[in-house]
Order: sequence, then structure tokens, then C-alpha cells
Amino acid sequence: MWPEEYPLSVRLGVVEFDGRDEETLAEAIELVRRFKVAGLDMVDVSFGFSTYENQIPWGPALLVPFAERVRREADIPTSTTWNIGTSKLADDVIRQESIDVVMLGRSFLQNPHWPDTAARELGRDAANWTLPAPYGYWLERYGVAKLT
Ligand SMILES: Cc1cc2nc3c(=O)[nH]c(=O)nc-3n(C[C@H](O)[C@H](O)[C@H](O)COP(=O)(O)O)c2cc1C
Repeated sequence: MWPEEYPLSVRLGVVEFDGRDEETLAEAIELVRRFKVAGLDMVDVSFGFSTYENQIPWGPALLVPFAERVRREADIPTSTTWNIGTSKLADDVIRQESIDVVMLGRSFLQNPHWPDTAARELGRDAANWTLPAPYGYWLERYGVAKLT
């Protein structure tokens, strides 16, 4: 029995960029609706990029329009990923209520203090609340540049 206070993550299915996007997306949305009825709280929208036919429209926030549609049509808190790694873009898609949560991969590999950096770029002076307290303390006191 999974403890109710902890989040449980389940992989629902796969949508491929394979020329049948409309069909597979509609199926995925229907699946999300059913899981919502069964108690699903949030869905993270991602795509399989693994078919030969796919033509991935690489660009900023490329999956956000799909996630936005899932969010709207399944009426459930939604996150997505891929190329949303600038503070401006991440802030925009949240402010525009396209999605509810931005998931980041490579930005965190590049900069583990990404939330702090992004908050500062967006004009927040004391951004240390974005980090666990001890991290914030050391970053505030010694900074990133002073590590080298
Ligand atoms: C080193 C690395 C390992 C990853 N491993 C997985 C994985 O095991 N499963 C998965 O679904 N996505 C994996 N991803 C994809 C990320 O979760 C994320 O969707 C992707 O990097 C796009 O987001 P980004 O543009 O912020 O990097 C991986 C990405 C990287 C860079």
C-alpha cells in the first residue's frame, strides 16, 4: 500500500511524433481523463521521439502547445519539458497559464542553482528561498564565482 502523503508517479502511455499526432494525442487525453476520475492529480506531458517517420519541430518550449491542450481538455494540472530552460520562457508559460509546472533537465545539469539564478534574472533580489536553506546560505555567503 503506497503511503497517501507521498506522490505516486505512473507512466500513462506514449505519444509519438509519427504523423498520427492528432490521433495519438486525442487518445492520450482520453486516457488522462479516465485517470483523473480514478484520482490522478497531475500529468506530465512528454513525447516519444523514437519512430523513423517523426519530424520533431525543435524549438523553444516545443511541447507546451500539446501540454496546454491536455491541460485544457482533460482539465488537470499539467507539466511538460524540453527546451523551456531560460528564466523568461519558464516564467512566460506559467504566467500565460499554458501549463502549471515547468520540468527542466539539461538546465539543472548545467547549473544546479538554476532556480536561484532564474529568480535573480527575473528581478528577485533575495532568491535564496528557491533553494534548501543550507544551500542558500552558502551561495549567499560565498557565491558561485568564489568556488574557483
Ligand atoms: C542525461 C539525461 C538523462 C535523461 N534520462 C531520462 C530518462 O531516463 N527518462 C526520461 O523520460 N527522460 C530522460 N531525459 C529527458 C529529460 O527528462 C527531459 O525531458 C529532457 O532533457 C528535456 O528537458 P530539457 O530541455 O530541460 O533538458 C534525460 C535527459 C538527460 C539530459
